[in-house]
Amino acid sequence: AEKTADLMVIFGITGDLARKMTFRSLYRLERKGLLDCPIIGVASDEMTVEQLVQRASDSIKETGEDFDQKVFARFAARLSYISGDVTKDDLYDDLTAAVKKFKRPLYYLEMPPSLFGPIAEQLGKAGLLEDALVAVEKPFGHDLTSARELNTRLHKVLREDQLLRVDHFLGKEPVIELEYLRFANVAFAELWDRKSVSCIQITMAEDFDVSDRGKFYDSVGALRDVVQNHLLQVLALVTMDPPAGAGADELRDKKTDVFKAIQAADPEHYVRGQYAGYTDVPGVAADSTTETFVALRLEIDNWRWSGVPIFLRAGKSLAVRATEVRLFLRRTPKLAFLPELTRAEPNQIVLRIDPDPGLRLAITARDDGTWRPVNLDTSFSTPLGEPLTPYERLFRGALTGDHSLFARQDSVEETWRIVQPLLDNPPPVHSYKPGSWGPTEADALIRGHQSWHKPWLEKAP
Ligand code: BG6
Repeated sequence: AEKTADLMVIFGITGDLARKMTFRSLYRLERKGLLDCPIIGVASDEMTVEQLVQRASDSIKETGEDFDQKVFARFAARLSYISGDVTKDDLYDDLTAAVKKFKRPLYYLEMPPSLFGPIAEQLGKAGLLEDALVAVEKPFGHDLTSARELNTRLHKVLREDQLLRVDHFLGKEPVIELEYLRFANVAFAELWDRKSVSCIQITMAEDFDVSDRGKFYDSVGALRDVVQNHLLQVLALVTMDPPAGAGADELRDKKTDVFKAIQAADPEHYVRGQYAGYTDVPGVAADSTTETFVALRLEIDNWRWSGVPIFLRAGKSLAVRATEVRLFLRRTPKLAFLPELTRAEPNQIVLRIDPDPGLRLAITARDDGTWRPVNLDTSFSTPLGEPLTPYERLFRGALTGDHSLFARQDSVEETWRIVQPLLDNPPPVHSYKPGSWGPTEADALIRGHQSWHKPWLEKAP
């Protein structure tokens, strides 16, 4: 189709993300027959294309997965390399020569955000942006003001429909599944509101620390790293109304609507934690107060969700790795013929995002004069073969100009608005033990509602 890119230009091809994600994902797309354009790598390193190809093969082999020589040869044949300083005109002269015969290039910026503006301006000045797409990695701004400034700056040379803001959670299978789960099933669609739901919990627990990226992480912290972007994007998909049409903008309209209904977060309902030992990490300030754990409460003021508290928590060095969305349904009324039910756990709907995507329904069953909890579990792994990984899906989506997988300007600004009071007035940070569930203050935050539920960890059948 005419919307599909006929060239991919990757800025930052020698960086960490390229090594960990880009080469592997593109190689897998090649294997699946989903890659069909040349790729130009750009970076400042002096290097031959042979050396770039070597880097690509090293990165792919590191995963230990099947390395298919034929597939790799096809992939390698797409690669070329341009070296230069992304802030200087020279590079764009070389790029112009390489790009000019293409109609719809995709520029994918795997670069520090401070360079998004300068690169876009240089591309614009060189006349390379007409009909082009530009994808930018996170972080998109570090607060509301800087996100607005970046949008304004990029929009001087790019239209919104040329811009793809990457949030890799939007490429995750179970996150995409949400639309189906909610709107293709009356069983869920009909109880997805305050009449049936009493509370929503979203947990993103990671059992590893930040040891290899202390310098980056210390300037960011958990709230900016995963809440403003990943968890709020997930929350929007969990709570939005059904889109009015099939287009990407109809979906994104509904996400923005629900963001608009979320009150700015209250620092009174916000807990920050830092795991013991964090300040010894290389690159972290000795007196750092950066949080590696957050727990917070949000409210949505609309007909669907008013009065349903939403609790989010995310942290490093926690007990397990688990990301899930958990909806608690209301309790049954007191029933004279089932008096024991008053002590039963309420029904829950759990969408597990990581690891092992799946769906759990926690229900109550009879157990000889009393009740017992029963879990109806199902895995999302498809019988039709392995689904695309997030980055495969996002690269594919970027190449085909599928905006539904990327965040729109208004939603990015709304999410910054929601967390801004927490950035402006951060409460003190509490220490927690690595391998725990974060500081005990997080339990006080949720008191009076469901307590934090232990994530669903068992493998789905
Ligand atoms: C990144 C964060 O965006 O997402 C990391 O910067 C985090 O800190 C990562 O670990 C989690 O992604 P995933 O897909 O591994 O759960």
